[in-house]
Amino acid sequence: MPSPSAEQGSSCALTQGASRQIKSYVLRTGRATAAQRRSYDSLAEQFIVPFAPAPADFAGLFGNDNPLTVEIGFGMGIATAIIAAANPDKNYLGLEVHRPGIGRLLWEIEKRSLSNIRIIEHDAVEVFQRMIPPLSLEALHIFFPDPWPKKRHHKRRLIKRPFTETLAGRLAPGGCLYMVTDWEDYGNWALAELNATAGLVNAYQDFAPPLDWRPKTKFEQKGLAKNHAVKELFFVKEG
Ligand SMILES: C[S@@+](CC[C@H](N)C(=O)[O-])C[C@H]1O[C@@H](n2cnc3c(N)ncnc32)[C@H](O)[C@@H]1O
Repeated sequence: MPSPSAEQGSSCALTQGASRQIKSYVLRTGRATAAQRRSYDSLAEQFIVPFAPAPADFAGLFGNDNPLTVEIGFGMGIATAIIAAANPDKNYLGLEVHRPGIGRLLWEIEKRSLSNIRIIEHDAVEVFQRMIPPLSLEALHIFFPDPWPKKRHHKRRLIKRPFTETLAGRLAPGGCLYMVTDWEDYGNWALAELNATAGLVNAYQDFAPPLDWRPKTKFEQKGLAKNHAVKELFFVKEG
């Protein structure tokens, strides 16, 4: 059998590398409710931006150039909807892979008549690498990311270098990265990773004090019910 040319070999290696990439999520199997399915079917076209491997024109997609906040892993999206409703002069892009949660956020968008939210149903890592232009974000929200508590799973944690460097590169000067977790070990890990990320400066010495405008999310409520301490991290982009 002829051996593959260098070109074939390298494109094959790229493909395999991409498919083997370690993900920060495992798709949950939970079924969507009838209401979530209905909202998804009727509203997806209007509010979901298809993934594309090229920088997106967010001003065009929102129809204005208001400041943009991206939320990674919004879950059921209720906090997302509350924040967007309270800030009609800002745009919000939610990234999530859990379709029932996307259906739920679409339901909230309709119920609250929100026009300042868009959703991308895709791996946030690839969305940041491909679609979010450099220096384009006012804020980045990451509320209760999957903690991956077992040591052998730490490589799946979202908040780690070099991805935090990609995140930093997408924030505009003065923009903020706001993360909250109820998993102490992940909080300490993220503090170390973010402190070591070029371009980001901790706005506080250590963990941040709780911000009173943030609505409690579903996973936060679960954590509080188990007496987990909530840790907040607030970093600002230099410049
Ligand atoms: C522990 S849940 C927290 C959800 C919500 N923020 C809350 O506090 O209730 C983490 C969420 O992040 C999503 N997620 C994890 N990695 C992701 C990725 N790479 N891209 C998009 N969503 C991701 C998961 O699907 C899940 O819904």
